[in-house]
Amino acid sequence: MQSPLIELKNLSYAYPRRGKVLDQANFRLQRGEKIALTGDNGAGKTTLFHLLTGLLKKQQGEVIAFGQCCEQESDFVPMRARIGLLFQDPDDQLFCPTVLEDVAFGPLNLGKSREQAMQIARDTLTRLGMSGFEERITHQLSGGEKRMVTLAAVLAMEPEVLLLDEPSNALDQKARQRLIDTLQTLPQAMIIISHEPDFLSQICNRHIRLEAGKLLEERSCENARPAVAAG
Ligand SMILES: Nc1ncnc2c1ncn2[C@@H]1O[C@H](COP(=O)(O)OP(=O)(O)OP(=O)(O)O)[C@@H](O)[C@H]1O
Ligand SMILES: [Mg+2]
Repeated sequence: MQSPLIELKNLSYAYPRRGKVLDQANFRLQRGEKIALTGDNGAGKTTLFHLLTGLLKKQQGEVIAFGQCCEQESDFVPMRARIGLLFQDPDDQLFCPTVLEDVAFGPLNLGKSREQAMQIARDTLTRLGMSGFEERITHQLSGGEKRMVTLAAVLAMEPEVLLLDEPSNALDQKARQRLIDTLQTLPQAMIIISHEPDFLSQICNRHIRLEAGKLLEERSCENARPAVAAG
């Protein structure tokens, strides 16, 4: 078997006054996997994404990305260029004045010319049904519009792995369907957090549940295939 894109070994994390959110959790993401990550409110799903990308500093265990053990910030910087994280709250993600600038920011940061970055941003917005929004002011957008713009910003970077924290939140039926169609056709491995089983089952081929600090294999995705053996 190919080496995993991301691997967690015995990852534990506790917040003050909350106690353990992750307790010796183990997990592997392989190429081609589209994983549904579920769990109760407050189970620690968002925390897991932030630990995986080094936004939170792990307390115990190992995070291995693309074969590299990530210990300190300097290890996480290059991996964050290869992993696209969609924040649960779009307001944590949007920071440029206009939509086009926000979506072009990632490609520019990855070394594309201004012209290339703008073209990628326009194309990505069109693909998500958001053409016409280029010059709109990001902080004036509606919740669903902000969600689609943040998705465009993540996809424009063409990351090798996508970590999507409740991507369908606030979307109307049309936007939700466009999102499903887009995620179905993307070749990248991804982990999607959502509380909508119907949304997840249309995209994912594996299901993991976070419960009492452990990551558990579930068999409830419609297209589910046998889970990749752990260990
Ligand atoms: N900075 C913090 N300090 C203390 N406790 C925190 C902090 N951030 C999160 N928590 C707590 O840690 C737990 C996990 O939070 P997290 O946001 O990861 O949950 P989640 O599974 O993403 O939930 P949801 O489905 O509601 O988004 C929650 O009980 C939360 O209250
Ligand atoms: Mg969350």
